[in-house]
Amino acid sequence: MSTATIRNVLSGDGDRFVYVVSALAALNGLLFGFDTGIISGAFLFIQDSFVMSPLVEGIIVSGAMAGAAAGAAVGGQLADRLGRRRLILIAAIVFFVGSFTMAVAPNVPVLVAGRLIDGVAIGFASIVGPLYISEIAPPRIRGGLTSLNQLMVTTGILLSYFVNYAFADAGAWRWMLGAGMVPAVVLAIGILKMPESPRWLFEHGRKDEARAVLKRTRSGSVEEELGDIEETVETQSETGVRDLLAPWLRPALVVGLGLAVFQQITGINAVIYYAPTILESTGLGNVASILATVGIGTINVVMTIVAILLVDRVGRRRLLLVGVGGMVATLAVLGTVFYLPGLGGGLGVIATISLMLFVSFFAIGLGPVFWLLISEIYPLSVRGSAMGVVTVANWGANLLVSLTFPVLTDGVGTSATFWLFGLCSLVGLLFVYRYVPETKGRTLEAIEDDLRQNISLAD
Ligand code: BGC
Repeated sequence: MSTATIRNVLSGDGDRFVYVVSALAALNGLLFGFDTGIISGAFLFIQDSFVMSPLVEGIIVSGAMAGAAAGAAVGGQLADRLGRRRLILIAAIVFFVGSFTMAVAPNVPVLVAGRLIDGVAIGFASIVGPLYISEIAPPRIRGGLTSLNQLMVTTGILLSYFVNYAFADAGAWRWMLGAGMVPAVVLAIGILKMPESPRWLFEHGRKDEARAVLKRTRSGSVEEELGDIEETVETQSETGVRDLLAPWLRPALVVGLGLAVFQQITGINAVIYYAPTILESTGLGNVASILATVGIGTINVVMTIVAILLVDRVGRRRLLLVGVGGMVATLAVLGTVFYLPGLGGGLGVIATISLMLFVSFFAIGLGPVFWLLISEIYPLSVRGSAMGVVTVANWGANLLVSLTFPVLTDGVGTSATFWLFGLCSLVGLLFVYRYVPETKGRTLEAIEDDLRQNISLAD
């Protein structure tokens, strides 16, 4: 790219500018993925540095999810009140402070504090990344652009596997955890180039600024879109946070909460966080397990790219139906493979391939589409708060699965655990079929309009 082109892109040239700011905002996703993935490797060495009770060990590993739930609980309202851009800056600062605290922690309490702080930042980032992108993107490409955030989540997880690997010989867990400071700084600098969300500006009475941002981020006329936003803002004067419970919002809340919980109780993080352990139990050696884990991380990234390419063409519902359907099938196979005697050899290979297929199906469906839909289906006035509620449910369910997975496999066995995830996926499939709306190609305002007119979103 020539410097003139770069200047054009950065100074605002419709779609290209919107791609750049979306990619910068998607660094929120990178930090989310990196900081959730890095602990698996770092933890092995932290155990050598400090004496810890099992409870404290649990808090160090799962503390980020608890912190993320707390961050999500306040993050949504902060996004509505302070603006999307300011919350991104706050998230970057909190990420930096959390990573720094963990890297220099002289003792366990400081390490735990760092992990919780880091978790709060993850909670902020998980809301504000997709929220910001969905509000700045033109409807035509909103699905793909918003899912850039999920692409960065998966890239962050993969990157964390590599960083873990790079520092593993030296056992340098402080460097592993401290590495999160780098993308935090890039995000904080990136924010200088990012305009505030035009929809948030409009809602806060800053119409001229909203128009200016839309002009920079659209190649054609912006009047129609501005008119739609204006209409939505005018009809919502009576909508407040308490209206999250209003009957007309209920269908959207059910969709969001349902998808939030199904995204987790179908078992993705049992695989993402515990892949090496599962793979070792299939008879793969140490090194092969780690390599296969990197393979799983790579497939997660690649299939998310496939989803991004498809989501604005085939739509959200179809991707979800195929994705969750595939998860049901692969989990049934996994349960069976672990049930049969004599794991290892041929069965071990089938198990590894099934795990990879399972992750692929997650990555084209529930992974990106959950975060996308929840940034599309809520009315502007409560969008941040509603996403907050739904995201808390997502982190809560994540915490539940990651804490109980070792207990479950120990108690009822790996096979039954996979079948349980499979059953949850089957219920999830019916849920998607019955309740999830198609939002492809529509403006956020048209989606809100349907909701207000009490048209069932699934029609
Ligand atoms: C989920 C995370 C998960 C990741 C895996 C995200 O959409 O929210 O819990 O670890 O996808 O790619």
